[in-house]
Amino acid sequence: MPNVLYLTCSPRGAMSFSRRVGDELVAGLGGAVLARDLAEDPPPMVDAGFSAAILAPVTEAVPPALAVSEALIRELEAADVLVIATPMNNFGVPAVLKAWIDQIVRINRTFRSTPEGKVGLLRDRPAYLVVASGGWFTGPSPTGTPAQPDFLTGYVRTVLETVGIRSLSIVALEGVTRGAEVAAAAIGKARAEIDRLLTQV
Ligand SMILES: Cc1cc2nc3c(=O)[nH]c(=O)nc-3n(C[C@H](O)[C@H](O)[C@H](O)COP(=O)(O)O)c2cc1C
Repeated sequence: MPNVLYLTCSPRGAMSFSRRVGDELVAGLGGAVLARDLAEDPPPMVDAGFSAAILAPVTEAVPPALAVSEALIRELEAADVLVIATPMNNFGVPAVLKAWIDQIVRINRTFRSTPEGKVGLLRDRPAYLVVASGGWFTGPSPTGTPAQPDFLTGYVRTVLETVGIRSLSIVALEGVTRGAEVAAAAIGKARAEIDRLLTQV
């Protein structure tokens, strides 16, 4: 039974498309779930104390400025599977997800800086990213509107790779603000993709 770390990022509770589909994915994975609602309980913003503490040598005793970071990293280390369900906000990640990323991507703790570039220190594991968006970003809309910029999926992939998590699958829920029919079609497409992904587990 895998330990699943499930991050949700929408403030819209039961109305959230990303959460609804993320919940289905997590149920399909089975296992023990640690659900962290980043919208409800956002990680702190990086401040001066944190910025100084990450540059100090890593010690056994965790400095107070890194306590939240350490707790979030340990949750991630304990997870066999990571699921992130998130809205697209202004072509990118919501601020609460960025705040989580800033806490877990930590030099000499989750990655090392080498002459060849950053090297992840966490073990690889399956990760899933469910993205809900009002418009379309994987390609043009059904009516031919060009795809909007996507600074979310590539960014999250790069960030996870930086800490060593390379096995990322993406489930897109596009056009969900364009009426019930379009939203239902997006959910249907996402469910089919989840079924396909779960057969590979
Ligand atoms: C502040 C804000 C910014 C948004 N930016 C985008 C965007 O750049 N592209 C897009 O397609 N939809 C955008 N949306 C629409 C949301 O992605 C969409 O409503 C999505 O369903 C939200 O996810 P949720 O249903 O899980 O809450 C934005 C919504 C908000 C509130």
